[in-house]
Amino acid sequence: MDRHLEKILQDFAKGSGRLTILTGAGISAESNIPTFRGPEGYWTIGSNEYQPQEMATYRMFRQKPEEVWKWYLYRINVCKKAQPNPGHHALVEMETLFKDRFTLITQNVDNLHLRAGNSFVKTFQIHGNVFFMRCADECKRKIFPIPKNLAGREKNETLTETDRQLLMCPYCGSLTRPHVLWFDEMYNEHYYRYHSALKVAEETNLLVVVGTSGATSLPNQVVWDVKNRNGIIIDINIEKNPFSNIALNSRQGFFIKQPSGEILPDILQRFKAAIK
Ligand code: APR
Repeated sequence: MDRHLEKILQDFAKGSGRLTILTGAGISAESNIPTFRGPEGYWTIGSNEYQPQEMATYRMFRQKPEEVWKWYLYRINVCKKAQPNPGHHALVEMETLFKDRFTLITQNVDNLHLRAGNSFVKTFQIHGNVFFMRCADECKRKIFPIPKNLAGREKNETLTETDRQLLMCPYCGSLTRPHVLWFDEMYNEHYYRYHSALKVAEETNLLVVVGTSGATSLPNQVVWDVKNRNGIIIDINIEKNPFSNIALNSRQGFFIKQPSGEILPDILQRFKAAIK
């Protein structure tokens, strides 16, 4: 590791500054969950019949709710089979180490950070979580778990009448929807902790960006906020991307071109050694 970066990590750990980790699909790639824009990505391969990105829109859900549900029930299956990897585990230890100084902002809906052990309070799931659903008509602004019998289907598996019943809102009987932010929807605080994420960005001294291609707006706002305040930015990715460019053009920015499952445990060890 770069000597300068090593010193920055040590000084940060000994100080009182706030650490924010911003993750994308890349952190779960080593758990065998496809990314979105990679060669095997969800947006590259998609469902059998529809354009990949069409599936993740409110418009498609209103037109073909069952197709959209089938696709999400299949994605739940992929996430269920996956296990958190050393990158996820390192972030759990960082939360334990830094307590109130730590926040995790994730774009991932795969639930792996929570399964690894990060706390719900400190994990801002800004794009939702595929294991949860809510009333599509918003009769209550409540999120509830997908019924066990539904969670985990093969690709394009046909839904039964019982499945359709399970997809009804338990409060008003309308259709439910997956608890995820779609491309034609806006962030908000209630479901996606939008304002909380922006507030955390304003208070961040060290931002570690992990495995994201920088295609969505809130992550961009977070990264630009930290850059504009001359915070430290470390981008971890196996490829150059818009955030590595921002980091490299920052006063205190680094790009680590390495898989997150390798480098995050290494960073954790350096934090721990500094605090000991
Ligand atoms: N370690 C680090 N980075 C990796 C690894 C790895 N092992 N494997 C892949 N990556 C990087 C890729 O180089 C790429 O930059 O992860 C990134 C994944 O990018 P995307 O597929 O675009 O996923 P993400 O950035 O999370 O997408 C953001 O867009 O489609 C929407 O809502 C969806 O949350 C998603 C959002």
